[in-house]
Amino acid sequence: MASSSSSSLIAASAVVLTIILNASVLCHGGRTSTYMRTSNNNVDMPVDDPTYYVHITQGDHVGTAVIVSWITPKAPGPDGVIYWKENSTEKKLAVGKIATYTYYNYTSGFIHHANVSNLEFNTKYYYQLGLGKYARNFSFSTPPPPGPDAPYTFGLIGDLGQTFDSNSTIDHYQNDPQNPQALLYLGDLSYANDYPYHDNVRWDTYGRLIERSVAYQPWIWTVGNHEVDWAPELDENVPFKPFRNRYHTPYAAAGSTSPFWYSIKRGPAYIIVMAAYSAFGYSSPQYSWFGQEINKVNRSETPWLIVLMHPPMYNSYKSHYMEGETMRVVYESLFVKYKVDLVFAGHVHAYERSVRVSNIAYNITNGLCTPVKNLNAPVYLTVGDGGNLEGLSTSMTQPQPAYSAFREASFGHGILDIKNKTHAYFAWHRNDDGYAVMADSVWLTNRYWDPTDDSN
Ligand SMILES: *[C@@H]1O[C@H](CO)[C@@H](O)[C@H](O)[C@H]1NC(C)=O
Ligand SMILES: *[C@@H]1O[C@H](CO)[C@@H](O)[C@H](O)[C@H]1NC(C)=O
Ligand SMILES: *[C@@H]1O[C@H](CO)[C@@H](O)[C@H](O)[C@H]1NC(C)=O
Ligand SMILES: *[C@@H]1O[C@H](CO)[C@@H](O)[C@H](O)[C@H]1NC(C)=O
Ligand SMILES: *[C@@H]1O[C@H](CO)[C@@H](O)[C@H](O)[C@H]1NC(C)=O
Ligand SMILES: *[C@@H]1O[C@H](CO)[C@@H](O)[C@H](O)[C@H]1NC(C)=O
Ligand SMILES: *[C@@H]1O[C@H](CO)[C@@H](O)[C@H](O)[C@H]1NC(C)=O
Ligand SMILES: *[C@@H]1O[C@H](CO)[C@@H](O)[C@H](O)[C@H]1NC(C)=O
Ligand SMILES: [Fe+2]
Ligand SMILES: [Fe+2]
Repeated sequence: MASSSSSSLIAASAVVLTIILNASVLCHGGRTSTYMRTSNNNVDMPVDDPTYYVHITQGDHVGTAVIVSWITPKAPGPDGVIYWKENSTEKKLAVGKIATYTYYNYTSGFIHHANVSNLEFNTKYYYQLGLGKYARNFSFSTPPPPGPDAPYTFGLIGDLGQTFDSNSTIDHYQNDPQNPQALLYLGDLSYANDYPYHDNVRWDTYGRLIERSVAYQPWIWTVGNHEVDWAPELDENVPFKPFRNRYHTPYAAAGSTSPFWYSIKRGPAYIIVMAAYSAFGYSSPQYSWFGQEINKVNRSETPWLIVLMHPPMYNSYKSHYMEGETMRVVYESLFVKYKVDLVFAGHVHAYERSVRVSNIAYNITNGLCTPVKNLNAPVYLTVGDGGNLEGLSTSMTQPQPAYSAFREASFGHGILDIKNKTHAYFAWHRNDDGYAVMADSVWLTNRYWDPTDDSN
């Protein structure tokens, strides 16, 4: 199985013994699923009715604020959010800011962002937007305070787009009996830039599609390549213009200077969101922020340290093969040093789970270019299978490399169910199955609190 890696090993004669020991631990690749889905016609859903639409995300560092965003197509309407605690008659008002933007010959609706803050933990809130016949009510629940003992369930979706498959992913996500409370979104939202002139109407239709989930629970945004929208041929020279206008993040509360990289605490998790399409090398603002940030994480308070990024560092599909390599070279040693538990990525339109490996010994001249088992390393998960118009990445490198534990090209979503400070359960669901079916699942032990457990 590992024949391609063993031929390169023999060349590095000075270190053959060490590598053979490592290779003996990792000599077999994992499982390539034989499951084949029935159809794959990748068509975006039709443009639907133009009412206003809503999305929310975490608004501060700890979970007591929510950014409520809504876009009214024709007129600004009221600039406030009325909100109240469950069963309370005391209503409060959070006033937002309104802005519009243009992109080539598209002019956006009125984009509202309001920071609903000073909320209580572990509490259900209702909120109302609009007035009279335009009034609509929504709700969300705040998380428990950051702390090791509260269980919490996150969903994972990446590369969603807006096809009939995307709709099926949302349907399966919402009906998942594991009942996810917040979503970690792994980048590539609307795929509007796949249309002529980056038709920004497709940013609006995407917003309407996801409303039925994201108006009720925060989606934590990671920026993907489809958010760049840099188009000098259209005289659109400012990267990320539609994303930056439509989707806000709580970056200032995390001491970040950019909305594209930031961190949050949510219950037992500390989540660091990285920006692969902004400068991230040594001396970049992102790199210096990241170094301080990861050093700050208190695993007694938030035992689970999770990193999100768009392109995966460990990927065995032919699609985007080794694209995450530059980021791996810069950041992997920090992931290992600080015992990151999990790294989630999208970008590759498929699912993959790694074993715990690192490749930090490699320095170009020493030939140590094969990932080795490392109990301080994260598990890398690619969940880029939301279902966009570009379709699935079905082509895989063969044989399956030893770092890859499981891979399958089907549309679906993931669930991370954190049970306590030592144990979490990850499951991947494919859209072709019933809501409760887990097509891949694994128990994960915390790297800080259970570092010698090598089951996963
Ligand atoms: C929302 O308000 C809270 C409390 O003042 C603050 O910590 C947070 O940074 C604000 N968030 C945004 C996005 O302005
Ligand atoms: C709100 O009222 C409902 C119905 O009376 C009750 O079931 C629920 O527990 C109450 N929730 C809170 C937070 O008091
Ligand atoms: C934008 O320009 C394109 C190409 O000229 C045209 O097809 C499209 O209808 C225009 N859209 C708007 C909103 O004017
Ligand atoms: C929203 O909820 C409030 C409080 O329960 C209620 O008075 C109002 O009628 C509701 N509005 C809509 C549009 O459902
Ligand atoms: C999207 O999914 C929802 C929920 O399953 C369904 O009601 C709706 O009809 C679907 N939309 C389209 C365009 O198929
Ligand atoms: C880390 O968190 C724990 C639990 O919340 C707290 O008791 C401790 O003081 C914190 N340590 C530091 C260095 O802040
Ligand atoms: C590269 O790694 C080898 C051993 O793994 C080490 O001897 C050598 O000094 C390293 N090179 C540099 C430039 O650090
Ligand atoms: C943590 O959760 C796991 C899995 O549910 C369980 O086996 C273990 O006993 C729990 N640990 C504690 C300290 O409760
Ligand atoms: Fe991507
Ligand atoms: Fe993508």
